Amino acid sequence: MNVRQQLVLTSLLVLSTGFFLRDLKVTGQTSRNQNRQTASPGAKDKEIKKLFKQNCAKCHGENGAGETTAGEIAGVPDFTDQRWQELYDYQRLTNSIKHGRGEMPSFGKKFSKEQIKSFVSYVRAFKN
Ligand code: HEC
Repeated sequence: MNVRQQLVLTSLLVLSTGFFLRDLKVTGQTSRNQNRQTASPGAKDKEIKKLFKQNCAKCHGENGAGETTAGEIAGVPDFTDQRWQELYDYQRLTNSIKHGRGEMPSFGKKFSKEQIKSFVSYVRAFKN
């Protein structure tokens, strides 16, 4: 084997190791995501309830009525009001959480698509 052949072989080896490692990383991530999605519905409800409490309740209140100081200053809607619930569709609420609206910050960078979906369902569940 001459030097040229050795060089080609070595670079092939380095390349394939790189691909192997990359595949490993991708596979690892997919299975983690799958775990998150297949968690039992009860666990998911609990998780979103906790996330709402940590990220949204400051303005919207834990009961969704928005009777908080920050909420009143910012002008939040009352999620328990049936008439308010009928005003907007799923897409609009999703967009508002993702990109923000008025005084509400955007959450599209902080939360996954799945989590934003769960927030919309959670907000919907406040209606009487
Ligand atoms: C800093 C206060 C604040 C925080 C924190 C906040 N919101 Fe809001 N939110 C608002 C305000 C103010 C509005 C009304 C916006 C408007 O219509 O001008 C609003 C509106 C909404 C709406 C109705 C949007 C529409 O399309 O009319 C939804 C749904 C919502 N918030 C969900 C959430 C969720 C979920 C979180 C947490 C991830 C959250 N908010 C965190 C202040 C906040």
